[in-house]
Amino acid sequence: MKIFDTHAHYDDEAFDKDRDELLCSLADHGIDCVVNVGASIQSTKNTLELIRQYPFVYGAAGVHPNETGELNDTLIDWLKHVAREDRIVAIGEIGLDYHWDEPEPKVQKYWFARQLALASEVKLPVIIHSRDAAKDTLDIMKAEHAGELGGVIHCFSYGKEMAREYLQMGFYLGIGGVVTFGNAKKLKEVVEYAPLEKLVLETDCPYLSPEPNRGKRNSSVNLPYVAEKIAQIKNIPADEVIRVTSRNARKLYRFQ
Ligand code: NI
Repeated sequence: MKIFDTHAHYDDEAFDKDRDELLCSLADHGIDCVVNVGASIQSTKNTLELIRQYPFVYGAAGVHPNETGELNDTLIDWLKHVAREDRIVAIGEIGLDYHWDEPEPKVQKYWFARQLALASEVKLPVIIHSRDAAKDTLDIMKAEHAGELGGVIHCFSYGKEMAREYLQMGFYLGIGGVVTFGNAKKLKEVVEYAPLEKLVLETDCPYLSPEPNRGKRNSSVNLPYVAEKIAQIKNIPADEVIRVTSRNARKLYRFQ
């Protein structure tokens, strides 16, 4: 069974020098599927180019909370149009990020709700980015009936209590390089607690490279380190982690 990277940013300039070479080598490293995630209007455009070029790359269309200052009604209409393209499998990444409170929370909340409504209209699951904003994120998701959309809480960073809330809504939890960090006690507890059937692997590359490559540019090639750590925590074989999370990812993004 091959590895599915549910969250990557291969359009990032960190890959400008060797993007094609790297993407073409992924199959040799046991990676058979990647979802490239939009974080702004420009990166959603870049994502469209990547999915046209590489048959194993799928896309998500959306604007990251810290970039929502650029949004307006016309751009929401454009996103809706993009969302109906072949091989766009989700709306994201969308959510709230109060770590960087730019733009102000009121603005982030407004466009988060608008993008959830958009996902509902085009009937796609959502990729949620939530940082230092647990309660507001959950409140808006409940108000917008996000449980009916389904999706993933990407780079899950909260504790077991929050994990339970999202699992009850039917969401998957995205687990990446952070789980390998020595100080990630809370996340390790979440991984131990959550059923393997609700976890998916992600890189968020070029960011959050796992140990032993922490601090270097990340790519899907590093995902075996993440699978290995989850296997250790759950006391099961790494093969099983790869097989089940890959199947979960296909369910999450509704592959046939
Ligand atoms: Ni991301």
